[in-house]
Parts: sequence; structure tokens; C-alpha cells
Amino acid sequence: MLLLAAAFLVAFVLLLYMVSPLISPKPLALPGAHVVVTGGSSGIGKCIAIECYKQGAFITLVARNEEKLLQAKKEIEKYSINDKQVVLCISVDVSEDYNQVENVIKQAQEKLGPVDMLVNCAGLALAGKFEDLEVSTFEKLMNVNFLGSVYPSRAVITTMMERRVGRIVFVSSQAGQLGLFGYTAYSSSKFAIRGLAEALQMEVKPYNVYVTVAYPPDTDTPGLAMENKTKPLETRLISETTSICKPEQVAKQIVKDAIQGNFNSSIGSDGYMLSSLTCGMAPVTSITEGLQQVVTMGLFRTIALFYLGSFDGIVRRCMTQRVKSEIADKTA
Ligand SMILES: NC(=O)c1ccc[n+]([C@@H]2O[C@H](COP(=O)([O-])OP(=O)(O)OC[C@H]3O[C@@H](n4cnc5c(N)ncnc54)[C@H](OP(=O)(O)O)[C@@H]3O)[C@@H](O)[C@H]2O)c1
Repeated sequence: MLLLAAAFLVAFVLLLYMVSPLISPKPLALPGAHVVVTGGSSGIGKCIAIECYKQGAFITLVARNEEKLLQAKKEIEKYSINDKQVVLCISVDVSEDYNQVENVIKQAQEKLGPVDMLVNCAGLALAGKFEDLEVSTFEKLMNVNFLGSVYPSRAVITTMMERRVGRIVFVSSQAGQLGLFGYTAYSSSKFAIRGLAEALQMEVKPYNVYVTVAYPPDTDTPGLAMENKTKPLETRLISETTSICKPEQVAKQIVKDAIQGNFNSSIGSDGYMLSSLTCGMAPVTSITEGLQQVVTMGLFRTIALFYLGSFDGIVRRCMTQRVKSEIADKTA
């Protein structure tokens, strides 16, 4: 009897695996598509633009610094696969004024057609202990990382829904999946993206528009170099427990997931574990993904408890060290 039940269960799971591709979104065709990448002049955004361009897309790069934009355009154009492809540059601050962002998106659509994929990658990270961070840092990170993703998305969504086609990508961070020492401001701004993305996906799914949230780990970019200068010792030691990824690798995965319409995009085994652990009520794009989450949840939570223990240990040791050196300074 038990054997029969087990056989049924296995058959059921196999059946789900087989029908899974049938209920997944139809992949987006990149050749000839118009892809807008905010933060496309540097780091992960630039690599995403290159990856899309290599696959035949027309690109609009959005960032503030015009010189960096033109440099990125030249670099991306080396990867053209046909002579019709265009890289358009737009200089705007995505976080300042919605009307300005809407206008530049309109200009881009007039030149390169309706946006098929928007990648919200403009952003920055600033670390620091809660009591040391200026209140203005919280405002800045919320403005750029959160509102800077809301504005471009709001500017393209109506056309995408009318055309019944589109992809919106939000570049969050692993710090948007778990809160770590030093990231009270950064994590909040990246967690906010997740709420926006989940609610938006439920609204636009019937219109064949799919949302992807990417959770990159530490990635070797000019942005990470800047962030490293602000990291307290604890944050640095915790970050050092994982390796640093290459932006090309991260970009490849994000583009692949966006084409497939996957809600979640993560890198490597840590990323896979974190995404399964934190899936909560997030949308699933395939039955396979849902089944994997159900099966792995308990095991991953157990592993996570060890990670948390080790991070708490790092924080405790840093504090003990600090107290000791303060006492030594006073007695010297
Ligand atoms: N690198 C990592 O380790 C890592 C890990 C997880 C998540 N992320 C996220 O990935 C995204 C890209 O990071 P990155 O490391 O590649 O950064 P990056 O090398 O510093 O590039 C940031 C890009 O965003 C643009 N940008 C910044 N603020 C902007 C604004 N207000 N308006 C318009 N454009 C703006 C920058 O150009 P201008 O300065 O000229 O405007 C630049 O093109 C960020 O959202 C970051 O939080 C990064």
C-alpha cells in the first residue's frame, strides 16, 4: 500500500515536471526588441545592455553622466550582430522628477519603438551602522533604488499592457532578501522593490507582462568599490564569507531569467538557497520551481541557522575587540 502511494506520488511529480513548461510564459524574443537599461553606463547595467545587444536588441541606456554614457555606447557597439542595431543614450536622474523620466522614455519610444524590456538597474549602496548613518542617506537610497525603479516602470507599463507584451526587471540585491549588519538603509530600499514587484506582477500577468526581481551577490563593479569604502568592519567580514561575482556572469543570468519571464533571478548556490528560503508568497513561473521550494525549505532553513549563528559571532567578536581596545586606550 505504502509502495503504491509512493509510486503515485512519484508519477504525480513527474507529470508536474512534464507539464511545467506548458504553463510557463512564452520567452521574449530579443532580436529587434527595444531594451531600456537604467544604470546602463556602468557595472551590471552595462553588462546587461551588452548581453541584450549581443542577442540583437536595440538599446536605450539611461544614466546621469553623459561622458560615461558615450563611453559605454562605444563599448556596447563593438558587439553588434547586424548593422541596423542602435544604442541610444539618455542622460537623466531617474529619481528626481517623474515627468522628466516619462518624457525621456517617450523620446526613446519615438526613436526605437515601444519598450519591450525595461531593466531598472540604476542604484547605489551605502553601508554604515544605523546610529552613524545620516537620515539623508535613507532618503537618498529610497529615492534612487526604490523611486528610481518606480518612475521608469510607471512610464512604460501602460504601453506594455496595451501591447500585451513586456518585461520589467528590478535589480534588487541579496541584501534585499536578508538584513545584514550595516545595511539598514540599503536593505530597506531593496526590500521595498520586492513588495512593488510582487504586487505589480499580480496586476500585469493577465496582460502577458512579466516581472523579474534579480538578487545579485557582491559583484565586481565600480559601484561595489564605492560601497566597500563605506562598510563597517562587521559588514566587511560578513561579506567576505562569500565570493565576488563577475558582472558579465550576473548579467547573463538576469537576461536569461527576464527572457523566460521568471519572477526570481539569482546567482550561484547561495543565491538559489536564499531565493528558495525567502520565496514566501512570491509568484512562481513554473511548477518545477514551486516543487523545488517546497522540498528544499526545511533543509535550507537549517543551513541558514548556521549562517546566522556565524554572522552573529562575527558581530559579537568585533564588539568585544572594540571594547577591549577602548579600555586599552583609556588606560594608556
Ligand atoms: N555590485 C554589487 O555588488 C551589487 C550587488 C547587488 C546589487 N547591486 C545593484 O545593482 C545595481 C547596479 O550596481 P553596480 O554595482 O553595477 O553599480 P555602478 O557600477 O555604480 O553603476 C550604477 C549605474 O547607475 C547609474 N545611476 C546611479 N544613480 C543614478 C540616478 N540617480 N539616475 C540615473 N542613473 C543613475 C550610474 O550612472 P551615473 O552615476 O552616471 O548616473 C551607473 O550607470 C544597483 O542597483 C545595485 O544596488 C549591485
